[in-house]
Amino acid sequence: MEASCLVLLLRSCVQFFALPVYLLWYLGIWELLGKKAFPYFMAWQTVSYNNKMSAKKRELFSNLNDFASSAGTLKLLEIGTGTGSNFQFYPRGCRITCTDPNPNFNKFLAKNLSENPHLQLERCLVATAEDLHQISDASVDVVVCTLVLCSVKSIEGSMREVLRVLRPGGAFYFIEHVAGAPSSWSLFWQQIYDPTWNILFDGCYLTRETWKDLEKAGFSEVKLRHIQAPLNWVPAKPHIIGYAVK
Ligand SMILES: C[S@@+](CC[C@H](N)C(=O)[O-])C[C@H]1O[C@@H](n2cnc3c(N)ncnc32)[C@H](O)[C@@H]1O
Repeated sequence: MEASCLVLLLRSCVQFFALPVYLLWYLGIWELLGKKAFPYFMAWQTVSYNNKMSAKKRELFSNLNDFASSAGTLKLLEIGTGTGSNFQFYPRGCRITCTDPNPNFNKFLAKNLSENPHLQLERCLVATAEDLHQISDASVDVVVCTLVLCSVKSIEGSMREVLRVLRPGGAFYFIEHVAGAPSSWSLFWQQIYDPTWNILFDGCYLTRETWKDLEKAGFSEVKLRHIQAPLNWVPAKPHIIGYAVK
């Protein structure tokens, strides 16, 4: 993706204003503080995100039980669970395993679990999406991932793990913010903010064309829609939403 001169100029301006952050980042202090502060930021920002996205989430997760295995109980693994912002949308009796590489989310996760007694917690693991070795092959009905593939080191490696842990016929549900359409204002602003955004928000990229990785991951069927999320901030509006069947 080629950045125009204007993009490079505006990007440098943003970076200039964020110089103190870059300095802390260079010294390794930003990441240290960020890992502790990010869960507080997410707990705050999830309230407004869920308010705006609740209809979309409710619609997406409405058929989760179609993938329940023969015992009739849905075994669900969430990767990058964060604060547990999706718990309220999961069906009653669903058995969930939560994974996230940042253990500082745990206190928010515990609060959310206590507010959603309709769920049964199986396990909470500190793990990245790229390495789910603590989960057995073909052991879950559904994997859920929202606003995570923007931050993982390798989408390809994450999808390999998702396909490994899903039982045949199981499904991978996703909601992700992604790169805007070519020549759109969204993409223009995304290219400007991307390097600074990545440092500010725990390794998140604005310009990933995540749908391409999902389409070539090896699922038997991918049901994916591009939407403009009803959010206030233009660079984060382009989203993909859907599910893919193993
Ligand atoms: C923007 S938050 C989204 C949290 C939650 N899924 C939600 O929708 O509210 C991104 C989450 O991805 C997690 N994360 C970052 N890198 C990851 C990786 N390699 N594998 C799995 N999760 C990761 C972060 O710790 C954080 O919890």
